[in-house]
Amino acid sequence: SFVLYQDQFIERNQAKVDIEDRGYQFGDGIYEAMIVYSSHIFLLEPHMKRLERSAHELNLNLPYSMDHLTRNIKRLVEINHLTDGIVYFQITRGAAPRQHYFPENTSSVVTGSVVHKERSAAQGTRGIKAVLADDIRWLRCDIKTLNLLGNVLAKQKAHEEGAGEAILHREDTVTEGSSSNVFIVQNGELVTHPADHFILNGITRLFVLDLARRLTIPVHERTFTIDELMNADEVFITGTSNEVNPVLEINGHLINGGTPGSIERKLIEAFNAEVE
Ligand code: PDD
Repeated sequence: SFVLYQDQFIERNQAKVDIEDRGYQFGDGIYEAMIVYSSHIFLLEPHMKRLERSAHELNLNLPYSMDHLTRNIKRLVEINHLTDGIVYFQITRGAAPRQHYFPENTSSVVTGSVVHKERSAAQGTRGIKAVLADDIRWLRCDIKTLNLLGNVLAKQKAHEEGAGEAILHREDTVTEGSSSNVFIVQNGELVTHPADHFILNGITRLFVLDLARRLTIPVHERTFTIDELMNADEVFITGTSNEVNPVLEINGHLINGGTPGSIERKLIEAFNAEVE
């Protein structure tokens, strides 16, 4: 398969990254993961806008224009004949002798790759168990950085407990999943954490909020507690590869008797209608 390295498409085993790359040493970089349906990158524009924002928030210089980067990502999908799967794309602050402050005269390093995954296979994992985990991450979770150790440790905890996702909380407040956003349904209305510094403003989250408005399901972007989560009528996560995924059990406690609820089914149906 071909990967993107800076401005070139090269064989995956030809791609080399410097051992002093700041992405490697400090997690000093940003990324996006996007999904491809029928050879088309889903919601490409909002993903690129978020990437641009992440770069801006970290004072990371983009080595190419946004148009150029976008063209190369599309080209990466084409050159690999990817019909269904994931495009992963990252930009680091580049390679320089190790020091914490930003290096001068170093250019950012762009890499991208694709992985094939049938949508039907992803659908098979619909309806998951989750566990609660302490949200020990830093206070700029709105930036999509390569620093994911807090997320990694939480997902590992979920994995060890046989669950598909870790639902994170700061004290009593539920923030998001380790790699997803969390929604609850209360009396036919959606509640999800507001898009502030405590969560990543998911592109799927925004898409689902839009679907809900079109379906005239009331939505509230406000914080909610662990107690509200455990007693919700429905709980689901959203994310690029999860789409809308019902959470049927949390820490051994069944949600909606362990079956997807009616709001979830409506949103999944609306989601399907947009991508099929
Ligand atoms: N993760 N919150 C976190 C912490 C995430 O890492 C992600 C996505 C989301 C959902 O964002 P979106 O809808 O834009 O995918 C929320 C990606 C998929 C990843 O790290 O692979």
